Amino acid sequence: MALVDSRNMFAAAYKGGFAVGAFNVNNMEITQGIVSAVAEEKAPLILQISRGARKYASMSYLRAIIDVAVAENPDIPIVMHLDHGDTFETCKQCVDDGFTSVMIDASKEPFEKNIEITGKVAEYAHAHNVVVEAELGQLGGIEEDVAGVDVGEVSKHLTDPEQAVEFVKKSGCDSLAIACGTSHGAYKFKSEPKLALDVIEAVAEKLPGFPLVMHGSSSVLAEFKDLINKYGGNMPDAMGVPEEAISRAVKLAVCKVNIDTDLRMALTAKIRQVFAESPKEFDPRKYLGPGREAIKEMVRHKLHVLDCAGRAAECL
Ligand code: G3H
Ligand code: 13P
Ligand code: ZN
Repeated sequence: MALVDSRNMFAAAYKGGFAVGAFNVNNMEITQGIVSAVAEEKAPLILQISRGARKYASMSYLRAIIDVAVAENPDIPIVMHLDHGDTFETCKQCVDDGFTSVMIDASKEPFEKNIEITGKVAEYAHAHNVVVEAELGQLGGIEEDVAGVDVGEVSKHLTDPEQAVEFVKKSGCDSLAIACGTSHGAYKFKSEPKLALDVIEAVAEKLPGFPLVMHGSSSVLAEFKDLINKYGGNMPDAMGVPEEAISRAVKLAVCKVNIDTDLRMALTAKIRQVFAESPKEFDPRKYLGPGREAIKEMVRHKLHVLDCAGRAAECL
């Protein structure tokens, strides 16, 4: 099977009360870890590539790695998605590069401007049979190429359900990333984690059947945080989204759940552990291998949190 777009996946996810995991890829080991988990668990998959990933690995390497994943797993539907496209030009480039789904993130722009930019991307993407994710409201946290608001301020930038209806209607986007209290990165909350599930509910009520996307969904798993801190790292205040909140969100209308930080932390934890326990080791396979395995088991666990294990056939 060739790469697919997310239409069938989201229809099945909405109906079945599960979400598809959207995992960020930057190199071969990360991709292999993710793909081997979904292959064993028979889950649909969205592999997403940020602008930072394009810069780091180059599109031709990433595309070649993903092509192998697709060829080796004919029963698994796989989407290649642009994560946080910032301009029409970036999105156009990715459509032209063969992405089957693109995100235009104009969420920092005023409402009307966000509609205008998203609409332009949707027009181009749809003409090439590519689907479009947009974003309304603002998340917290700052990644390499993704700007956000201060983590303490996220509750002031949640998605307005009334605006969401107008936005979807006027922009023509196929799915919508909403701000519901999450942030990007490993420091999502300053104290008690709190998700605005009522915002998801309110948007879903006003846009029945329409797929919503949750960004900033890493949980900052204790297992990896503890290993990182034990073996020379310094992330004591890292805090993520509780997994039970994610499981509740996917029963509402959240059909895509974005995870990057948990991948980064799994890889980093295992590499730190090998370096600390085997200081004489210098063969990259001896630390990247355990890192890849940690990613695989972490992703396998997430597929159950999202209830998308065993759902590949439903999404075809
Ligand atoms: O939301 C952002 C993703 O985690 C990608 O981050 O821009 O550092 O690749 P990046
Ligand atoms: P995390 O930083 O929580 O993994 O979020 C990733 C994300 O939203 C990518 O778009
Ligand atoms: Zn994101």
